[in-house]
Amino acid sequence: MRNILIPGGAGFIGSNFVRYLLARYPDYRVVVFDKLTYAGNLDNLRDIETNPRYAFIRGDICDAPAVERAVRAHAIDTVVNFAAETHVDRSIMDADAFIRTDVYGTYVLLEAAKKFGLRYHHVGTDEVYGWVAEGSSRETDRLLPRSPYAASKAGADLLIHAYVVTHKVAATITRGANNIGPYQYPEKVVPLFITNALDNLPLPLYGDGRQQRDYQFVLDHCEAIDLVLHRGSIGQVYNVGTGQETCNIDMARAILRLLGKPESLIQYVPDRPGHDRRYSLDVTKLRGLGWEPEHTFAEALEKTVRWYVENEWWWRKLKSGEYLEYYRKQYLERR
Ligand code: NAD
Ligand code: DAU
Repeated sequence: MRNILIPGGAGFIGSNFVRYLLARYPDYRVVVFDKLTYAGNLDNLRDIETNPRYAFIRGDICDAPAVERAVRAHAIDTVVNFAAETHVDRSIMDADAFIRTDVYGTYVLLEAAKKFGLRYHHVGTDEVYGWVAEGSSRETDRLLPRSPYAASKAGADLLIHAYVVTHKVAATITRGANNIGPYQYPEKVVPLFITNALDNLPLPLYGDGRQQRDYQFVLDHCEAIDLVLHRGSIGQVYNVGTGQETCNIDMARAILRLLGKPESLIQYVPDRPGHDRRYSLDVTKLRGLGWEPEHTFAEALEKTVRWYVENEWWWRKLKSGEYLEYYRKQYLERR
């Protein structure tokens, strides 16, 4: 039996992973440890909240005593860390929380892993490699983060490496490309464009819209994390992506097509400062463990659009209060 602590489990990917883990491993217990920032949402876990193998603790990964209490109280042996500040545009406005949570919070979890002998898996990002003009990033490539968010995630990756080497912490890292799917907060481009289109609002496309991202389905990412958690080599990093990139303009057009909305909703807006034009991952190493993504981009997008169409109860209430304040600062005051 494994008792798994999931920091950030009330967010987008974390909540999908919790659901996946409970279904896949009938003897695992899962404890979500989440601060419930603007991005954390217990609605994401509503369908499993009565599961006897699930528990929730509201807590901050920067709070070492709270982390230790959770580890002791639930006899935790494994940590899979999703907790982070995750939105690049917010990190450009104000990086403070990113440095705290993504760097210092990771340090706190690593200290707990060292003290209690925990297996630690870290959910990292392809953004640590920076903009890749040609070819694809391999796990051994140098880190060249270009946004405060990416730099905070690179800081975490380097700390993990140091704890593996110095303290023999049993850690692994996955570096994932862009995820799409159910329960993604509508600040990220795909749910933002879907929900705006449903309301006949403009789709704000940055710059020339020719930037490339590898949009993968969230459950494919969850399977990869599961595989690395169970079969990955300690101390190793694994890229996770489909290996196929899509231009943002094509992604926006595809969403409008699926919803039967006009292309005139696309509105070009000033570019993100320091915008990484292209990410591309070499996923040979992960494929070596036997992983293949189940969804093409078209399938992932189709499922995602359908989920937002059918789950207005989930996203409609999020697009108010703090969200509108952020939206105004990010889109309306920048023109
Ligand atoms: P998200 O923003 O949807 O959720 C983050 C969660 O972390 C929220 O529940 C939030 O409340 C929680 N959290 C934030 N600060 C915390 C703190 N100090 N203590 C405890 N909990 C805290 O994020 P996501 O998109 O699900 O991303 C999850 C992880 O995957 C992140 O580490 C992110 O860097 C990484 N990642 C995301 C993507 C993507 O496309 N979304 C791709 C690759 C990697
Ligand atoms: O690559 C993995 C990363 O993907 C994760 O580590 C991050 O947590 C996650 O937020 C995501 O980062 P991106 O910056 O790639 O995602 P975002 O959804 O913000 O933007 C995707 C692309 O769409 C990017 O090229 C910027 C563009 N964009 C974004 C927004 C919000 C727009 O054109 N308009 C927008 O309004």
